Amino acid sequence: MTSVRVVYLVVSLVGLSCMAQAMRSPAQALQDLNATRFLSIAQRLNDQRILGGNTDGMLYTILVPTDDAFNKLSPEEQNNLDTVPGLLEDTIGAHIIPGQLFSWDFDTGRVIVTDNGHFIRVYQPHSKEETFLNDAKVLRWDEEATGVVFILLDTVLDAPEGTIYEVLKGPDFGLNIFADMVDQAQQNFTLHRTAGPYTVFVPSQTAWDNLPVTIRDELARNTGFLRTVIQYHIHRGSIHVKSLDRNGTLSTIYGNHVINVSVTSDIKLNRAAGLEEVDIDCDNGVIHIIDHVLFPSNVGTLIG
Ligand SMILES: *[C@@H]1O[C@H](CO)[C@@H](O)[C@H](O)[C@H]1NC(C)=O
Ligand SMILES: *[C@@H]1O[C@H](CO)[C@@H](O)[C@H](O)[C@H]1NC(C)=O
Ligand SMILES: *[C@@H]1O[C@H](CO)[C@@H](O)[C@H](O)[C@H]1NC(C)=O
Ligand SMILES: *[C@@H]1O[C@H](CO)[C@@H](O)[C@H](O)[C@H]1NC(C)=O
Repeated sequence: MTSVRVVYLVVSLVGLSCMAQAMRSPAQALQDLNATRFLSIAQRLNDQRILGGNTDGMLYTILVPTDDAFNKLSPEEQNNLDTVPGLLEDTIGAHIIPGQLFSWDFDTGRVIVTDNGHFIRVYQPHSKEETFLNDAKVLRWDEEATGVVFILLDTVLDAPEGTIYEVLKGPDFGLNIFADMVDQAQQNFTLHRTAGPYTVFVPSQTAWDNLPVTIRDELARNTGFLRTVIQYHIHRGSIHVKSLDRNGTLSTIYGNHVINVSVTSDIKLNRAAGLEEVDIDCDNGVIHIIDHVLFPSNVGTLIG
């Protein structure tokens, strides 16, 4: 009789603690996940979508960068988050998805729109073993608390500053030369559509400066050649650097011409171009800045 009672007591204690866990507050859950930076930001912004206190009955899925993820930000990025008006709110908003989503809802290729209108793409390189949301890897799924489901990420997601075209045109990355060429080559519509997604390899200012003057002249006077070169830097699909990290080829929107990718100690495109800045997320894809201009193998015949 006594032992039955003890068993009963243990069972009900276990039951109680399970219930307590299912009903834990979002703040408690974030503490359990050691996401102290994210929790303190949510509290500072008093963001009730995260803290579960919103009164409209809306439920949310929250992507939670770990403290290590915040520590990976550069001092400049950290500083921008603290000082650029609205950036912190926009960045946190890029981690909030309306509705409750669980691990089984994240199929590769799915595009999810965040509460502030940014796009997150789901990518599973080895079937379901690993899942990336843009460039962030999922560390833990399905952590429930009142009103929210938390998903733990190893990287803070960028709040994109617009479409690829808008980011090219903007001042942040110094890509205006390429942006102007995109206009001249009439590819701006492609890179401005929110359909996409596209991956664009954008040569840096120095890469253009280093071209032989004959090629630069040809690009300036021959729109057909310019369009070819621009199209050859555009891949249809969204490729972050983690999935570039293998020997192979990448299709481009210039006919059936591909870019060769080779990986030894670092990643090279067509055996020459290295990556300078990678994974710049935009609302319709991703930009990588490269240190050489790429040319398709028929370039000789194109410029005669
Ligand atoms: C949080 O940190 C504690 C103490 O370091 C550790 O035992 C626990 O596993 C961590 N939890 C998670 C979800 O990483
Ligand atoms: C594309 O560039 C052309 C020529 O500069 C311009 O007339 C057009 O408005 C641009 N389209 C977009 C979507 O920006
Ligand atoms: C790519 O190919 C090179 C040369 O054949 C080889 O040395 C390298 O290990 C390969 N890299 C990967 C990631 O397979
Ligand atoms: C890519 O590699 C293939 C096979 O080695 C080669 O034929 C082709 O010319 C390369 N393309 C470019 C643009 O370098």
